[in-house]
Amino acid sequence: MSSLYDEVAPTPGADVPVRRVTIDVNGQKRTVDVEPRLLLAHLLRQGLALTGTHTGCDTTSCGACTVLFDGRPAKSCTMFAVQADGHAVETVEGMGSASGLHPVQEGFKEEHGLQCGFCTPGMMLTAKALLERNPDPTEDEVRWALSGNLCRCTGYQNIVNAVLWAAKKMRDEQTQEA
Ligand code: FES
Ligand code: FES
Repeated sequence: MSSLYDEVAPTPGADVPVRRVTIDVNGQKRTVDVEPRLLLAHLLRQGLALTGTHTGCDTTSCGACTVLFDGRPAKSCTMFAVQADGHAVETVEGMGSASGLHPVQEGFKEEHGLQCGFCTPGMMLTAKALLERNPDPTEDEVRWALSGNLCRCTGYQNIVNAVLWAAKKMRDEQTQEA
């Protein structure tokens, strides 16, 4: 058990109540005490040191803070941590490892789908969720799925190519397994 009261936006001298929550984060149950006002993005970044979740706008506009919430993309800058109690959250840290990249991560590498990388975790998690429900998306479907995620660098073409690359790789892997 760890308390995030002192780590995340403490109010000096204030008697702020905390609430105990248990969240499945990247397949691991994490139990923490949080202030009711604590945002999920801040819990992930500051409380759990999962800094792959970025914050850009804090207004649900840019998608940099996207995580998968029970498997669906959600913007963690506009969710309270207490809303995640009893739910599953996946961050980019849960997608793969250096020695075992997720196909979406491979796609971004192969197709040069990033420049500064600020938008990349959110883009990749959104793409992962898309490919889990639609393994063979059209380019338009990829663009629509990513429309809540903004990139200042790439012009999007390489990101779309990366997702289409990953979709093909995942389909090929499934064919080989069958
Ligand atoms: S930081 Fe959450 S949408 Fe921009
Ligand atoms: S790669 Fe820089 S914001 Fe997308």
